[in-house]
Amino acid sequence: MARRKKIYEGKAKILYEGPEPGTIVQYFKDDATAFNAEKKATIEGKGVLNNRLSEFFMTGLNNIGVPTHFLKRLNMREQLVRSCEIIPLEIIVRNFAAGSLSKRLGIEEGTALPRPIVEYCYKDDKLGDPLVTEEHIAAFGWATQQDMDDILSLALRVNDYMSGLMYGVGIKLIDFKIEIGRVYDGDFQRLVVADEISPDSCRLWDLETGQKLDKDVFRRDLGSLTDAYTEVAKRLGVLPKSGGHSKPTLIN
Ligand code: TMP
Repeated sequence: MARRKKIYEGKAKILYEGPEPGTIVQYFKDDATAFNAEKKATIEGKGVLNNRLSEFFMTGLNNIGVPTHFLKRLNMREQLVRSCEIIPLEIIVRNFAAGSLSKRLGIEEGTALPRPIVEYCYKDDKLGDPLVTEEHIAAFGWATQQDMDDILSLALRVNDYMSGLMYGVGIKLIDFKIEIGRVYDGDFQRLVVADEISPDSCRLWDLETGQKLDKDVFRRDLGSLTDAYTEVAKRLGVLPKSGGHSKPTLIN
């Protein structure tokens, strides 16, 4: 088989040129980083779990009419996605206070917010992805006002979908981050949910115990990240519930 062309390597994923124009192969690595890559580890099985979980969430979103870049899963670590131009923003939606919001505003983690709060960070590792306002986004031309209206609507639809899905399996969606891409259909441009949705980019707490089932387990040294992600996958029916394996055993 001919060697594929690598397009980009990030902290948790590698992008390769896809088999057809307009497609990309997204490869999920086992690497975990936190605090802008100050903390690093390789966690066996994380890439396999995130590939499967992101497939699950993106497929659900596609099925309810929220457009995403996801086309199909190719194998344990790879998925085929539509090539898109990533808007250089991290879009964060928060339902409960946690993480940087709690720190910044002195609100105890877990406090319910009066309404979902949407924040934007400028994607730039050198700057540590700083929080920005819509004023910055418009002034520097990262997105238009129409884009911002569409981004907000997509972010809130993803929030409703993910919150309900998680609630159904006894998990509270505290917050999450998404990225949005532009795809071109002829002369038309539309926005789609891109990158990944996985426990790397969400905060997920057990509804009853408050146990963390997301990347905070790694950020804060709270135990096995693979066990936490496996628990999420099992509850969602992405992995078989029985068996007691801590390593991902995938069903198709
Ligand atoms: P924060 O509280 O650290 O700002 O994080 C908010 C949400 O965004 C949380 O679910 C984790 C996610 N996130 C990422 O996906 N990537 C990042 O680089 C950061 C800082 C947070």
